[in-house]
Amino acid sequence: MALTSLERAEAAERAMSEELDRIVVKSVIYTSGERDPRQPIPRPPDTGKLYMMGPDPRLPRMPEKPTLFDFFRYRFGPSAHVLQSARLARKNGLDERVVLACLLHDISVMGFIRGDHGYWGAQLVEPYVDEEVSWAIRFHQVLRFFPDESVGYKYPDAYVRLFGTDYEPEPYVQEAYRYARDHRWYMTSRLITLNDLYSFDPTVRVELEEFADVVGRHFRQPKEGLGFDHSPSAHMWRTMNHPTKYL
Ligand SMILES: [Fe+2]
Ligand SMILES: [Fe+2]
Repeated sequence: MALTSLERAEAAERAMSEELDRIVVKSVIYTSGERDPRQPIPRPPDTGKLYMMGPDPRLPRMPEKPTLFDFFRYRFGPSAHVLQSARLARKNGLDERVVLACLLHDISVMGFIRGDHGYWGAQLVEPYVDEEVSWAIRFHQVLRFFPDESVGYKYPDAYVRLFGTDYEPEPYVQEAYRYARDHRWYMTSRLITLNDLYSFDPTVRVELEEFADVVGRHFRQPKEGLGFDHSPSAHMWRTMNHPTKYL
């Protein structure tokens, strides 16, 4: 009997988890949407092994005291987009904190959760950056849906392609937009959207090190390492570090 691609993927996954010396049970959020979240989570057979409670050997090992750049290197997906945005912001002569905001604005998509990524991303960095920076990150997601002719920001063509011509942001997005529009930091967040560059030259490589100085000056890296400093978002960094931890 021929296997469907889903069955093949599941078999490969089972083989992989059998090789692990710990049992991995996925969090609901990893599979919800592909299955009814009210059903029990599929679990590998209980083979008497211990459950995963630390570093997953399938992932690159993080240093004991991980820095922001360690997360970029070992846990985040490709960062060309945010690096190019940060470079553009710098080229445009913008404040270093705007450069930092551009560098961080999509880290939630890159390493954690897509939906409402502005809010998640802001929360991740909130304890470590100026309030204006996390505020700008929080609202860039919303502002992307609303043009501002006064600064030359148009509704993205990409959104027409991605969401259709008659897509309308949900009421909570519209409410958040109206709130942000009147806020004193509106323009800081708007600047992220203006430098939110997708059609960049794929042959140009931007290295993280280009922003080591900005990060050094404006990101308060905890000495214990991100995740181990008891900040209000430390647990989120730990989850990215150890995404398969059982409890
Ligand atoms: Fe974004
Ligand atoms: Fe972006």
